[in-house]
Amino acid sequence: MTNTESSSLTTAIIKSSAPILLGPDRSTPKTLVSPSPFDLYSTTSISFFSKCKAAEAAKSDKPRCLFDSTDLSTLLQLCKASMQNKKNNLEMFETLKYLIGAAGASGYGSKSTGEQVTENCGDLHSITAIITGATSGIGAETARVLAKRGARLVLPARSLKAAEDAKARIISEDPDAEIIVMGLDLSSLNSVRNFVSEFESFNLPLNLLINNAGKFAHEHAISEDGIEMTFATNYLGHFLLTKLLLKKMIETAKTTGIQGRIVNVSSSIYNWFSGDTIRYLGQISRNKSREFDPTRAYALSKLANVLHTKELAQRLKQMETNVTVNCVHPGVVRTRLTREREGIVTDMAFFLTSKLLKTVPQAAATTCYVATHPGLVNVTGKYFSDCNEASTSKLGSNSTEAARLWTASEIMVSRGSKAVFDPLTSTFDYDISMK
Ligand SMILES: NC(=O)c1ccc[n+]([C@@H]2O[C@H](COP(=O)([O-])OP(=O)(O)OC[C@H]3O[C@@H](n4cnc5c(N)ncnc54)[C@H](OP(=O)(O)O)[C@@H]3O)[C@@H](O)[C@H]2O)c1
Repeated sequence: MTNTESSSLTTAIIKSSAPILLGPDRSTPKTLVSPSPFDLYSTTSISFFSKCKAAEAAKSDKPRCLFDSTDLSTLLQLCKASMQNKKNNLEMFETLKYLIGAAGASGYGSKSTGEQVTENCGDLHSITAIITGATSGIGAETARVLAKRGARLVLPARSLKAAEDAKARIISEDPDAEIIVMGLDLSSLNSVRNFVSEFESFNLPLNLLINNAGKFAHEHAISEDGIEMTFATNYLGHFLLTKLLLKKMIETAKTTGIQGRIVNVSSSIYNWFSGDTIRYLGQISRNKSREFDPTRAYALSKLANVLHTKELAQRLKQMETNVTVNCVHPGVVRTRLTREREGIVTDMAFFLTSKLLKTVPQAAATTCYVATHPGLVNVTGKYFSDCNEASTSKLGSNSTEAARLWTASEIMVSRGSKAVFDPLTSTFDYDISMK
């Protein structure tokens, strides 16, 4: 039996209040009512089992150990099954909570909208925010809500026309909104560098960075920097963008006294990735990759958002900055994210899951909450879903994996480098002569 197994067994025994040693003077438990078959794996069963054993021991004339090794293994199995049962019940409870939109500890839930969660965030006129991917979907709604609350917005996009259209839609609702549109293609590290130098030339403060842009690629493609396109767009571009804007955010927080916030938009699908992150990235970052699976690649990029949040939070704390970073799962909503897979199959999938889908204003709520809520001062390195803090998977909370990804990312974004994956050592190398 491992330590964890024996400690959960001990906890279960303590919870079932079974005595470990019984002698002849101990009374037999009065009535023993067998648990119902539906309760087979519950703590009631464990308690029932313990009481039977207690009754057996009480009949004996010598003090003896209540449980022998066979009993312990039976109990262990009951404990394991009980834990699984509890997990299933918890999952059912969470789904029910989601469906009815019950409020969590924050006072908000799955049905809260961006407007509702920012009602008490105060006036955002002193806040300057960069929101990536604000031309459509969740990013566009986040931008609309933050502009309504008074924030000055910088909206970078690959298409200036699409960004101008997004700006026009916000201005038509809020004529006083201050919005700057700029060019940025997150899949290109050069484009990220150009965007940051142009932004710096405006000499604006920066309080809030919302890394929202994302793509769910259908076809395999490699970025101009030699990285698989989904990863390059959803994660690596944002990694470099954050790195280059950090100095400005730290300075702004210092001079204004307002805590800076970074919000990384991830997805609960990050949980679907298992295996070696760097190895898989290396495999799919080769031309005509046979290993490319669009969903796995998307999950990897979203796991990278979670790990980035974890490692960055740690570094920001160590540097004693007044800037926090958190990540969010917005919920599932039909947006242009699935544009490369439009068709009858996608329509059917959305139709069948329609009861679980959010509206766009609901999907923007968690980002708006984490970006502005006064209750989240000093909260950093956390994962939020339905406007409440949630736990992350074992891989998502692995600090060694987070540090490893950080190191690989630093290499990939090194100026003048082209990332080259070495499958033998599972590491990235870079060849400066390639640029
Ligand atoms: N929808 C969901 O169910 C769901 C669930 C979980 C997480 N998310 C996440 O939520 C975020 C927003 O997605 P959405 O659902 O709102 O999708 P969307 O409507 O497709 O919006 C994606 C945004 O990202 C931008 N973008 C894509 N590639 C870019 C690039 N190379 N450079 C700069 N901008 C780029 C798009 O701009 P263009 O106009 O140039 O294409 C668009 O503004 C994504 O990170 C996504 O992974 C969505």
